[in-house]
Amino acid sequence: MKKIMLVFGTRPEAIKMCPLVKRFQQETETFETIVCVTGQHREMLDQVLHLFDVRPDYDLNIMKTGQDLYDITARVLLGMRDVLKEAQPDVVLVHGDTTTSTAAALAAFYQRIPVGHVEAGLRTYQIYSPWPEEMNRQITSRIARYNFAPTPLSRENLLREYVDSATISVTGNTVIDALHMVVQKLKDNPALSEEQRKVLLDAGYDVRRLERKTQSGEGPRRLVLITGHRRENFGLGFMHICHAIKSLTQRYPDVDFVYPMHLNPNVRKPIHEIFDGIDMLPPGKGWGEAFNMFFIEPLEYLSFVYLMEKSTLVLTDSGGIQEEAPGLGKPVLVMRDTTERPEALESGTVHLVGCDEEKIFSEVCMLLDDKTMYDKMSRAWNPYGDGKACERIVNMLKL
Ligand code: UD1
Ligand code: UDP
Repeated sequence: MKKIMLVFGTRPEAIKMCPLVKRFQQETETFETIVCVTGQHREMLDQVLHLFDVRPDYDLNIMKTGQDLYDITARVLLGMRDVLKEAQPDVVLVHGDTTTSTAAALAAFYQRIPVGHVEAGLRTYQIYSPWPEEMNRQITSRIARYNFAPTPLSRENLLREYVDSATISVTGNTVIDALHMVVQKLKDNPALSEEQRKVLLDAGYDVRRLERKTQSGEGPRRLVLITGHRRENFGLGFMHICHAIKSLTQRYPDVDFVYPMHLNPNVRKPIHEIFDGIDMLPPGKGWGEAFNMFFIEPLEYLSFVYLMEKSTLVLTDSGGIQEEAPGLGKPVLVMRDTTERPEALESGTVHLVGCDEEKIFSEVCMLLDDKTMYDKMSRAWNPYGDGKACERIVNMLKL
């Protein structure tokens, strides 16, 4: 019996690791599955644990308001020391590029426990973009004994860095497993979709608005879905993003802009400053005369996917959403200068728009106004996986 410990702590890691936890838990003859969450995120992590019904064996509960990189690294490292000593796993699996994942990998290395890296080999080769994620990934690659690369390109990156090819397997990204599970759930159960509509209504957005006729009479209302949270965009970057969004809401009164806000105070500050008092408006109300801007609390994954399916396009700096949206045929404008996920750039469903106010504004306008361009970017095609990544990872660890 192999003891596998899966460690994660933020929302995206949880979305990508919970399907893997579930898959390991099916193999009771071969694996003992131990789940350790760091609690780097609290509410946003708990939303995902609840959705997938995953109950952690260990919870380091490290989150503090306004935590910095030193706080997270130190708390995870020290917390993991004791957890690893007690649980003594044979393999520790970490995910991607968060500080939870790198600190947990280091903690396992200090006790000479082999580390498996899920979502290995993504690179921009620019250490401050994204920051600190690019360096986190590179450090974890040096430690990892097993590398689960989502795409052939991520495998090539590792090979170029002289990572032993025998340790690398191309599995696809587990986010596509998660996405398929949720999309299927919504498809199989119309009552569940109705539930999401109500959740969104409570959160402050009525999706039935999208069935209404527009003032101009040209087609139904459309939806631009927005998220943002990258550390390197804090400050000026977010101010530019908010100004661009504000101009867009005024230019397109027939389009709804919905922004489920990350809980990081650095994300919310410029929103409060630029949109002035919008956050606390009662459900159904938006900012400004056009009433088409909706700032809402972070959504549970099921509701978020439901809303993404209803959207016309997505404006984001998120990593995970770059992987999910192309599979749903939704064009993505990425508010970053670089991406470690170039596959969808090449396939044409994703464009980089940086944090430049005018560029964000003009690219959204182009997608909303130019049907040919829109059709070109909205062809559903997903280079990131086929929904079987978890099965491949489990099988690799059986060997
Ligand atoms: C973290 C990851 C980032 C990942 C992102 C996904 C690092 C350094 N950063 O960034 O790679 O892309 O998560 O969202 O690992 N907060 C809450 N409740 C929550 C979550 C966050 O209140 O459930 C607030 C807290 O004040 C916290 C702050 O957000 O201190 C920042 O959280 P943190 O994990 O440090 O940074 P993220 O920007 O979320
Ligand atoms: N997501 C969610 N609710 C939200 C916003 C995003 O469930 O309100 C999901 C989204 O579908 C994706 C993941 O969270 O799977 C992305 O998380 P985030 O953007 O915070 O982190 P990143 O992927 O950039 O590390």
